[in-house]
Amino acid sequence: MKINVTVNGTAHEADIEPRTLLVHFIRENLNLTGTHIGCDTSHCGACTILLDGQSVKSCTILAVQANDKTIQTIEGMAANGLHPLQEGFHENHGLHCGYCTPGMIMRASELLANNPNPTEDEIRWGISGNLCRCTGYNNIVKSIQYASAKMRGETPASTEPQFV
Ligand code: FES
Ligand code: FES
Repeated sequence: MKINVTVNGTAHEADIEPRTLLVHFIRENLNLTGTHIGCDTSHCGACTILLDGQSVKSCTILAVQANDKTIQTIEGMAANGLHPLQEGFHENHGLHCGYCTPGMIMRASELLANNPNPTEDEIRWGISGNLCRCTGYNNIVKSIQYASAKMRGETPASTEPQFV
């Protein structure tokens, strides 16, 4: 079955089996392996991408459902240098093993698009569909707060320890 998708700004046409999951299409047909597979139950969110701007667990839908739509993956986030979310995760130690990070960033990207100045509770609720086994989430929240401030034109607060 033929599908046409625009991925990170580039148009692709592909001939795929109708049963192909979107995550497998992204990883295996497009070789964009930043989108991870962390479960087979739609729980972990490691496979989150943006489909027409909405965050979607790409293991949960078929590739044919993305026909004529735009897809953004983590590989498309640094088109103009590091995205403020990527910078935030770097500056605030928002990752340990990094396995959940692409999905967290894609999810947070939609969260900030809909709510540029979220409260801590709104961030925690917003990423509640994405699991992290390493960080305890505190630094992920700080990373998203950093990006939120930067994207609103403010200077993000430093979370580095202060020595006096
Ligand atoms: S791999 Fe998609 S939710 Fe876990
Ligand atoms: S940083 Fe390891 S799973 Fe989140």
